[in-house]
Amino acid sequence: MNDKSCSVSRTSSSSSPPKTPKYFYQFRFIVIGDSMVGKSSIIRQFTEGNFIDIADTTVGVDFHARIVELSEEVKVKIQVWDTAGQERFRSITFSYYRDAVGCLIIYDITKKDSFYNITEWYKEAKENVNEEECVFMLIGHKIDKESERKVSTAEGERFADAHDMFFIETSAKILCNVEEAFNIVAKEVYKRLVRGQLEMKPDWDGIKTVSTQPAELVGLDRIPSVDMLVEERPNKKCC
Ligand code: GTP
Ligand code: MG
Repeated sequence: MNDKSCSVSRTSSSSSPPKTPKYFYQFRFIVIGDSMVGKSSIIRQFTEGNFIDIADTTVGVDFHARIVELSEEVKVKIQVWDTAGQERFRSITFSYYRDAVGCLIIYDITKKDSFYNITEWYKEAKENVNEEECVFMLIGHKIDKESERKVSTAEGERFADAHDMFFIETSAKILCNVEEAFNIVAKEVYKRLVRGQLEMKPDWDGIKTVSTQPAELVGLDRIPSVDMLVEERPNKKCC
């Protein structure tokens, strides 16, 4: 059941007619963390806009996508690799890190172990992505279960600060900060692209242009300034 105070409007639901974007990118993200922390649920909420309260463990890796509008001129297709948290699938998920430009590491705020295991997840991710080419986000998930909380917000923030990651707390169940989590990472990737800290490479699928316009029109020198990006702010009044 959605809490109205938490609902976040989707850009695609705007009543104005869709504009043709001048710039159209594809960013590839990977979502990791212990089994049952809610990776598939947060991705389903982000890409399909629904929440199913059943445990349906992911086998290997699943793939999802959603188009978001970072500004009037920039649309991005976010491809998300949903990985299995279970140990027995680790050998499969390894190969998906390499092409990720965004890495979202999730723990369950009601499960201390899932927070302790973040260290291992982060280490594994760092070893397998190109560190300079990946934006990291730490997510404390299931904040609708505030009364069962075992990991404080401050603990999450400290870890994120110490490892130069973004941090946010979310709930797929009551739709809180789900959009924000993905949008913050997407906007940071875009900013780094504009500043030349990230670049598209033929042998790397982290960032691609998928423009309907000729390739020269989406050259890096023509990318609009980052000033037009509205800063994404986590919703602090979810629960
Ligand atoms: P693996 O695929 O095994 O790695 O697990 P996962 O991390 O994908 O977890 P999944 O999304 O399947 O969710 C596990 C359980 O947590 C399910 O029963 C979900 O309904 C529940 N869950 C997910 N997100 C939330 C949330 O925001 N709040 C609450 N209360 N439950 C959630
Ligand atoms: Mg899953």
